[in-house]
Amino acid sequence: MREPHWTPNYGDPFEPVPYRPVRPSADESLTTAAELRRRMDTRRTVRAFSTDPVPEQVVLDAIAVAATAPSGAHQQPWTFVLVGDPGIKQRIREAAEEEERVSYEGRLGEEWLSALRPLGTDAVKTHLTDAPYLIVVFQQRFYLDEEGGTHKHYYVDESVGIAVGMLLTALHLSGLAALTHTPSPMRFLGELLGRPRNEKAFAVIPVGYPAPDCVVPNLVRKSLDQVLVRVT
Ligand SMILES: Cc1cc2nc3c(=O)[nH]c(=O)nc-3n(C[C@H](O)[C@H](O)[C@H](O)COP(=O)(O)O)c2cc1C
Repeated sequence: MREPHWTPNYGDPFEPVPYRPVRPSADESLTTAAELRRRMDTRRTVRAFSTDPVPEQVVLDAIAVAATAPSGAHQQPWTFVLVGDPGIKQRIREAAEEEERVSYEGRLGEEWLSALRPLGTDAVKTHLTDAPYLIVVFQQRFYLDEEGGTHKHYYVDESVGIAVGMLLTALHLSGLAALTHTPSPMRFLGELLGRPRNEKAFAVIPVGYPAPDCVVPNLVRKSLDQVLVRVT
């Protein structure tokens, strides 16, 4: 048997290996699911961060969790850039605020601006310098091989979205707060961080502890009944 490989070797044959996870009892599953549901319901997007440091290993572990996500054809089309350097964070903030000012001054359009109003956001992005870490997530739109050849990636948006969901879950369950920030347009991130031409910025995720005076918008989530259609 060949060594397991991290990326598809196009055309290789299917080589199955056994998969036998321990099956929990129904009671164990019920307890785990109820606890997870309760804990995840306390997750909130935080926009006011403490400058207190967080253990870097917790962030690395959360990124490792994200990298276990399923992906189209197992192409794992993601790169996570971990930024802790204050100078780089400052440059990201300046570039993001420049874009956001144009957006909030009208580029977004009235419909988008009114959708944002309940969130209380504006063009000032203190979280980009206050949070001890920024995780800048890039999508690998295609695979770039060592000779500069390009290969198609499948379901990139879906795969990276799932990975980011798992990242946010891991950060929250580890006790850290995060924000999914999508300054638009985001091209400056690839330029600033020197990413290759196959990568496109997907989101900036500041990570840290909430500021002592942190507030969040008073939002209500849809109930299970509102989001679930049962066909049983
Ligand atoms: C794809 C995506 C993009 C987002 N972009 C921004 C953003 O640019 N700025 C921001 O402040 N919040 C952003 N958010 C956070 C949402 O506003 C937030 O998740 C939503 O209001 C629900 O709040 P909650 O996460 O506390 O439940 C984004 C969330 C997602 C999923």
